[in-house]
Amino acid sequence: MLWYYLCIAVLFVDSGIAGKLNSAKTVIKKDPPSTQGLLYPFESESRDIRSLDGIWRFLKGGYNDSTKGLVEKWYATDLDKIKPTLAMPVPASYNDLTTDESLRDHLGVVWYERKFFVSHDWSLDKRVWLRFGSVHYSAIVWLNGVEVVRHDIGHLPFEVEITDHLRFGAQNRLTVLCNNTLTRSTVPQGEVVQLLTDAGNKTFQTYTFDFFNYAGIHRSVVLYTTPKVYIQDIHITTDVVVDSNDDEDDEASGEKEADRISGNIGIIDFKVTIAGVDCNEVTESPDFQSYYLHLQLRAADEIVVHEMCKGRTFNGTLRVKNPILWWPYLMNPVYGYLYTLEIYLHSATDESLIDVYRMKVGIRKIQWDESSFLLNGQKVYLHGFGRHEDSDLRGKGLDYALLTRDFNLLKWIGANAYRTSHYPYSEESMQFADENGIMIIDECSSVNTDYFGADLLYNHKSALEQLIHRDRNHPSAIMWSIANEPRTQKNQSEPYFREIMRYVKTLDLTRPLTAAINVEIGKDKLAQFLDIISFNRYNAWYHNAGHLDTISIAVKTEAINWNKKYKRPILMSEYGADTLEGLHSLPETIWSEDYQIALFGQHFKAFDYLIKQNWFIGEFVWNFADFKTEQAFTRVGGNKKGVFTRNRQPKSSAHLLRERYYGLCKQFYECEVPSDFLPYSIHWRYRVHRPAVDGEICDSNSLPKECIDFKLN
Ligand SMILES: *[C@@H]1O[C@H](CO)[C@@H](O)[C@H](O)[C@H]1NC(C)=O
Ligand SMILES: *[C@@H]1O[C@H](CO)[C@@H](O)[C@H](O)[C@H]1NC(C)=O
Ligand SMILES: *[C@@H]1O[C@H](CO)[C@@H](O)[C@H](O)[C@H]1NC(C)=O
Ligand SMILES: *[C@@H]1O[C@H](CO)[C@@H](O)[C@H](O)[C@H]1NC(C)=O
Ligand SMILES: *[C@@H]1O[C@H](CO)[C@@H](O)[C@H](O)[C@H]1NC(C)=O
Repeated sequence: MLWYYLCIAVLFVDSGIAGKLNSAKTVIKKDPPSTQGLLYPFESESRDIRSLDGIWRFLKGGYNDSTKGLVEKWYATDLDKIKPTLAMPVPASYNDLTTDESLRDHLGVVWYERKFFVSHDWSLDKRVWLRFGSVHYSAIVWLNGVEVVRHDIGHLPFEVEITDHLRFGAQNRLTVLCNNTLTRSTVPQGEVVQLLTDAGNKTFQTYTFDFFNYAGIHRSVVLYTTPKVYIQDIHITTDVVVDSNDDEDDEASGEKEADRISGNIGIIDFKVTIAGVDCNEVTESPDFQSYYLHLQLRAADEIVVHEMCKGRTFNGTLRVKNPILWWPYLMNPVYGYLYTLEIYLHSATDESLIDVYRMKVGIRKIQWDESSFLLNGQKVYLHGFGRHEDSDLRGKGLDYALLTRDFNLLKWIGANAYRTSHYPYSEESMQFADENGIMIIDECSSVNTDYFGADLLYNHKSALEQLIHRDRNHPSAIMWSIANEPRTQKNQSEPYFREIMRYVKTLDLTRPLTAAINVEIGKDKLAQFLDIISFNRYNAWYHNAGHLDTISIAVKTEAINWNKKYKRPILMSEYGADTLEGLHSLPETIWSEDYQIALFGQHFKAFDYLIKQNWFIGEFVWNFADFKTEQAFTRVGGNKKGVFTRNRQPKSSAHLLRERYYGLCKQFYECEVPSDFLPYSIHWRYRVHRPAVDGEICDSNSLPKECIDFKLN
C-alpha cells in the first residue's frame, strides 16, 4: 500500500499584532493520507452483510475522568461489570433519550458496547470488515479487548478489517469510546471552559455555531465480508460528448465507423483498485496478470447496455451511445436516472469469479464558467434549502422514516437542490438524492472557523479528503463547499484557504468549489479563490429586524457587488426568519408566520431582478425545518427558521415557497406543475400570476401568450 505525502514548508508571516505574537511560525503543510476503500457495503454473491444496529449497552464517563476508562481498561471486560449500564439505541444521538440533563449536556467520552456471534462459515477464505457510518466526534474501537481502529471527525465513515481479531463460532464483544469534545483543532471548532457551580468548577463546551452538538453512534454499524482478493475501491467520473469519430481504446465495442450514429455519447471513466493480493498489497500496476475485470453497465430495465473485459489494467472508459442522462428533478421529465455498473473480478488462471460489486451510476456532465453553472450543457438555476440532519429524540441519528419524509417534502415543494449544511450527511441520503434528482452542494464540517492554526488546517484538509473520497461517485454531488461562515476578515484566513483550495484541486477537478460567506465583501479574503461565490445574509432579521422594505435593495446590491468584484456565478446560500408556528400578526411582526412570508416575498423580488443579470444561479432558504440549538435567549426551543416544523409539517410559508419553486421550474424548464399546485380561488388568478416583464401587460383583459403560459391545465 503506497501513501504519498506531499510536504511543503511555508512560512506564515502576519504583520498584525496577533501575527507578531506567533510570528515566524513555520507551518508544515502536510497533506493527509488518501482514504482507502470504504465502498458503501452492498451485498452481492461474494459479499455478506450483517447489521449491528440495535440496542447497545452504554456508560457515561465524566469529563475530568475521561481518561479513567482508558487507564482502567474498561474495554477489557463487560461494561456492566464496571458500572450499571443504560440501554442505548444505535444509530441515534444519545443526548435526548434519557431524562438526565447531565447526559444531554455531557462533555467528554461515553462508552458503547454490544456482543454478537459470527458463524464458522465466515472463517473460510474470507475477510471480515467492521464499518461505522459515523461516530461523532471521535472514536476508539476495541474488539474482544483489542484496539482495532480510531477515527476523528464526525459525520464520516470508517472501517477496519477484523478477520484476525474475531472469534468464529463464538461470541465477540465490541466496545466503542465516543468523544464529543471540540477544540481549536477540531472541525468544527469549540472551546472547553470552566464554570463555577455549587459543586465547584465544572467543565463544559462552548461553540459559536448555531446547531446542537449532538453526539453518539449516528449511523449504522455493519459487519461485512469480502473474498481474500477483493474490489477495494472504485472511482468513476462521467462526461457527455457529442459523437465524434475518434476511436477510444474500447476492447469490447468493436464498432465500425459506419455503425456510428450521431448523438450523445456517455463517457464513464473508471478506476478500480484490487486489494488483498500477497499480504494486503494493493496493486493497480499494468503488469498485474493474475486477475481480470469484467464490467457490465445495466440500464434501469436490467438490459446490459455496455460490456467490457479488462485484463492487466484496472482503469478504462465505458462509452454509452445515446445514454439516458442524469437530470435534476423538474429539469427533465426523466430525472434521477441511474444505470447499474457491475464489476466482476475473475482469476485469470481458472477464470473463476472472485468478487462482485454493483454500484449506481448517473451519467452527467458538469461545467461552469464566469457566469453560469451547467448540467448536461444546460444552465441550471438552483432552488432549495440549507438543511440539518436533526429530529426530535434521535438527534442526528440516521432514520429512514425521516429521510423518506424529507425527500417527499422536497419534491412536494418543488426544490431541486440543498446544501448539506454544515457537515456531510448520511451516505443513504446521498443515495436518495441520486435517485430523486436532488442536486447537492456537499459541505464539509468546517463551520464558523475562527482560529486558523496548522493542526486545524491538516484536519480540515482531511475532512475534505474523506468527504470527497466518500461522495465523488454520486451524480447528485455537484459542488463541494469547503466551509461555512469562516471568519475570513482575519488575515490568517488567506494563506489558510489558499492552501485548502490548492489541496482540494488535487483531489477533484470535475466539480466547482464554493463556500458560504457571511463576511462583508470589503473585508473577506476567501471569495477570490472560489469557483462559485455563495453568501449568507439575514436582511430584516439579524440586521434591521422588522424592516421588510430594506431587503430587496440590500440583496440586489450585495449580489451585484460580489459579481462585479470577482466575475463569478453568485448564489444566495442562506436567508430567512425565525417563525413560531401558529403565531400570526397583521401587519407582520417578527417571529410570526406572516412575517416569514413577507420576508420571503421581498427576497423573491430581488432574486427575479438578479436572475435577469444572468450570473445569479440560485436561492436557498435557511432552513428546511426547525432544528435544535444550544440554549440561548435568542432561541425558543431551537432555531425556528424552518419552512417545515421540526416534525415535518408545513408552516404557511411552505405554500408560498412551493408556488415560487414550481414557478421557477415552469419558467426555466417548462416543467409540469402538480394539479394541486394552487388552490382554486378565482378563474383568472393564474393567468395574471406571473409578474410582468419588460413592460409587458398581464391582466385578465389582454392576455399576451407568455402570461397565459402559466395557466394550469
Ligand atoms: C492584515 O493585513 C493588512 C495588509 O497586509 C495589514 O494592513 C493589517 O494591519 C493586517 N491586520 C491584522 C489584524 O494583522
Ligand atoms: C475530577 O474533579 C474532582 C473534583 O473537582 C477532583 O477531585 C478530581 O481529582 C478530578 N479528577 C481528575 C482525573 O482530574
Ligand atoms: C477527547 O477529545 C479531546 C479533544 O480532542 C482530547 O483532548 C481528549 O484527550 C479526548 N479524551 C479522551 C479520553 O480521549
Ligand atoms: C474555576 O474557573 C474560573 C473561571 O470560571 C477560573 O478562573 C479558575 O481558575 C478555576 N478554578 C480552578 C481551581 O480550576
Ligand atoms: C489508465 O492508467 C494509466 C496508467 O496510470 C494511464 O496512463 C491511462 O491514461 C489511464 N486510462 C484511463 C482511461 O484513465
